[in-house]
Formats: sequence, C-alpha cells, structure tokens
Amino acid sequence: MRNPPPGNTGTKPRGTPMSNQSKPTHEPVMLHRIVELLAPVLQEPGSVLVDCTLGLGGHALALLQAAPHARLIGIDRDEFALKVAEDRLADYSNRVRVYHAVFDELPYLLQDAGVDEVNAVLMDLGLSSMQIDEPGRGFSYMHDDPLDMRMDTGGGRSATEIVNIVSEAELAKLLRELGDEKYAVRIARSIVAARNIEPITTTGQLVDVIDAAIPKGIESRGHSAKRTFQALRIAVNRELEALENTLPVALDALAPGGRLAVLSYHSGEDRRVKRAFAEVTEDQAPRGLPVVPKELQATHIALTRGAELPTEAEIELNPRAASARLRAVERVA
Ligand SMILES: C[S@@+](CC[C@H](N)C(=O)[O-])C[C@H]1O[C@@H](n2cnc3c(N)ncnc32)[C@H](O)[C@@H]1O
Repeated sequence: MRNPPPGNTGTKPRGTPMSNQSKPTHEPVMLHRIVELLAPVLQEPGSVLVDCTLGLGGHALALLQAAPHARLIGIDRDEFALKVAEDRLADYSNRVRVYHAVFDELPYLLQDAGVDEVNAVLMDLGLSSMQIDEPGRGFSYMHDDPLDMRMDTGGGRSATEIVNIVSEAELAKLLRELGDEKYAVRIARSIVAARNIEPITTTGQLVDVIDAAIPKGIESRGHSAKRTFQALRIAVNRELEALENTLPVALDALAPGGRLAVLSYHSGEDRRVKRAFAEVTEDQAPRGLPVVPKELQATHIALTRGAELPTEAEIELNPRAASARLRAVERVA
C-alpha cells in the first residue's frame, strides 16, 4: 500500500525512470547480521519495522520473510527506488506501507500510519548501487551526465547549482568537511576558474576540472573525483542534517526492547551515529554518584561493540560494502 506523506512531498513530480532495460540491482550490506539483530524483536503479531532507507527493499524483504507477523513502514526519498521496492515486496503488500519522504519526517509518518511505537528501525545510509549506476542521475564520476545528484529529483538544489553558485571558500570547506578532500582548496580554486569561463553542468566537466587540480603521481587515493563527488552529494541531499535530526526521533520511537540499527558509509555519518548512541547508552549522572537516579540512567544498551565491519568475504563479493560501519542499540524497559 502506497501513501503520500502527510506533508507536501507526496505531490512532487515523478522520479527519473530507469533509462536502460537492465534490472536494477543493489546487494544489501551485512544482510545476515541485520536480520540477526532485528528479526528477533519483530516476532510478535503486530510488530512494526521501519526501514528509513528502503532502497530496493533487499533488507526489508529478508526481514519480512524472517518475521512473518511484522508489518513494514518503508521510507525513501527516491521515488523510483520506491517503485522498484514495491514491486519486489508485492507478495507482502498486505504488510507493507511505503512513503515517499525524507526520513526526518518520521514523526509525521508514524502518526499518519497510526503507530505510537516501533519494534525495529533500520537506516542503511547513502546511495544504492542502482542510483550510482543509473545513467542520468549524476552520482557517478564514471559516466558523463548532467551534474544533478539529487536523490529526490522532484525538488531541491542540484549539484550544478552548488558548483556554480557557492563561493570558493565555501566550496573548499564543503569538500574538506564532507569529502575529507585534502586538495579541497586547489579543487575549489579550479572549479571557480573553470566556471568563470563557462558553467560546469556535467559530471565529465567536473571530473576534468578535478583532474587538472590534483597533483599527479603523489599517492593512490582511488579515483581523483571520488571525494569531491561524495561531498557534493552529501551537500545536495543535506544528508547529515537529516541523519542528525532523525537519530533522536528514531531512538525515542522504539518500544521497550525495540532495536535501531544504522549502517554508515563515511566518517561524518558514523561519528554522528556514535555520538547519538553514546548519549543514550551512558548514564547522564555526574561521575562518582553512588546511586544513579532513574531519569539519568541510560535508556538504551549497545548491541554492537563499537562499529561492526563487513567480513573480507563480503567485501570481495560486494566491494561497495567495504566502507560500511554497523552500530545498533536496544531500548531498555
Ligand atoms: C543504501 S540504499 C538502501 C538499500 C536497501 N537497504 C536495500 O537493501 O535495498 C539507501 C537508500 O536510502 C535512500 N535515502 C538516503 N537518505 C535518505 C533520507 N534522508 N530519507 C529517505 N531516504 C533516504 C536513498 O534514496 C537510497 O534509496
């Protein structure tokens, strides 16, 4: 069952249709571990799973199969991904409700779905392989495409706008903070020089500008454009703001015994998850207090020791899993 979100996002134009005929794919990351963590708390009739990043529904499908009495609220800001997921989950449609929304709308979506508390929440951040590989989206430095990078093609600033409008200093800051790009200043300077000649509107143009800005043969850091593309994508989609706003809400929405699992793919995301989890898994009492008052006691317990990583075997099968970091917590009674 498909629902527009209670806000105005339901009226946005349709997402980009798949332009090639091949079946969209995405390998769900750390799938067995996610099922191991979340399925046990979804066994009671009426249990609710929220998949904040439904993507192509790979994790959701495995969880619906492992938890036959649970229902799923699936959220994604990419309308095309939602369509793919809905088809994939068609056999379970009586237990599935999907929303085209940014996950920071979670409180309104739960209200709309008539749900007070949930038993499990999954956040598998970033992009799906389908989005990266899909020509025309502008996420990949491997194709020459319009420089777009919006997960929701129905609104918001594209990467073209950022690259051509933002000041050199702001660009450098963005590349350093969101992409860990050590040549941020040089790349920002080259972008501004190039756009003063003609606007940068394609991924190919941007890759050429980055290539020209980075010193050659210093060290191998993967593709020269990787960090700049990551930074722009995070900025375009305001990914860190959405994550930071949603983590406390998701932690709070958990029923006693409910679990939240988050898969992050870069340090900026993982740092925020680590911080939000530390706030709820540590007592808030001053050190040395002999008895910690109830209101200052931890409300959640950690289910993962630090961040868990994918195995070498998984990375070999799915190299895009390599940067994954998994953290999970459970709400105490
Ligand atoms: C890594 S993929 C999820 C893949 C999914 N777990 C699967 O197994 O197919 C991330 C998905 O989350 C969506 N997404 C990322 N940030 C989002 C946000 N703030 N709100 C809603 N959806 C988001 C993306 O559009 C993408 O489809």
